[in-house]
Amino acid sequence: MSDPFDKMVSDARTVFEASASKPLRDAWASLSLPQIRADLIQRLSVAGIGEAESDARFLLAHVLAPSSYADAVADPALFSWQQMSGLADLAWQRLERRPVSQILGSQPFWTLDLLVTEDVLTPRADTETLVELVLEKCAPGVADLVDLGTGSGAILLSLLSERSDWSGIGVDLSPAALEIARQNARRCGLDDRARFVEGSWGASLAANSVDILVSNPPYIRTDVWRGLEPEVRRFEPRQALDGGEDGLRDYRSLLIDAVRVVRPCGLVAVEIGFDQGADVTALFEQAGLDDVGVKRDLAGHDRVVYGAVAGTNG
Ligand SMILES: C[S@@+](CC[C@H](N)C(=O)[O-])C[C@H]1O[C@@H](n2cnc3c(N)ncnc32)[C@H](O)[C@@H]1O
Repeated sequence: MSDPFDKMVSDARTVFEASASKPLRDAWASLSLPQIRADLIQRLSVAGIGEAESDARFLLAHVLAPSSYADAVADPALFSWQQMSGLADLAWQRLERRPVSQILGSQPFWTLDLLVTEDVLTPRADTETLVELVLEKCAPGVADLVDLGTGSGAILLSLLSERSDWSGIGVDLSPAALEIARQNARRCGLDDRARFVEGSWGASLAANSVDILVSNPPYIRTDVWRGLEPEVRRFEPRQALDGGEDGLRDYRSLLIDAVRVVRPCGLVAVEIGFDQGADVTALFEQAGLDDVGVKRDLAGHDRVVYGAVAGTNG
């Protein structure tokens, strides 16, 4: 009778042998770790992946953890057959152009580490400009916040992590995204101050119910979305990216809700595409917002439009 451990290993081998990444394992079976790394970088480059070296580093770090690459080169016993198979599996996904964040399952944003799946947009570093703007404009003190189109919860949770007396609501049209946002709130220890609501923009929110409204809506023009790299077009939700024919569709919708739900003198701040500063500023002014301004990101591009709700509402 066979040993249960041998059977487990043999079953695992059968599964691995049947998987799509078999060609990689076959190619790597007789190679050393540095040779595998070099081969991986070359394959990623040939597949048209610009960040081949850093992607290879992330994938290797993931399978080798807690050992470092240097440790595993010095002691080949730290790089097992199972780890090589695991690396082949991750590499195969990357060669199919799945983003690294989805392969590894998480993405750093602000000071947080957030779960990411193909149900949510991977939070981008540019979006930290919106977090910075809100923290600059709003002093500590009790406040109610809403994040329209919360996705992974990135903006809402970053702001709550910085202001312990704020509470907030994340709204999204996607129930699957909201489930990830809820998991992220628990993961960050912020679930006592964050709740999540399914709905379209601010439609489900009461008039004069929040002090701060933030949003990073879909803002890519449909024709531009069609030409985006496979990582984005094939693996990230279109609903998170496609802002309609002129890219402004969702600003128009959410501004109607913003002036209704934000209390007088409250802040409305949205992320924009680098070339949308003038258009979105005009939409803010048409919506009756005061003190409208634009904040640039670290690359010097217009990235956030903000304004204050004036007078008395509703
Ligand atoms: C650009 S993503 C932003 C995600 C996240 N806030 C971030 O910055 O990483 C836009 C989000 O808006 C959501 N969305 C699209 N249309 C919506 C609508 N009508 N109402 C609410 N959310 C919507 C999408 O599901 C997606 O999660």
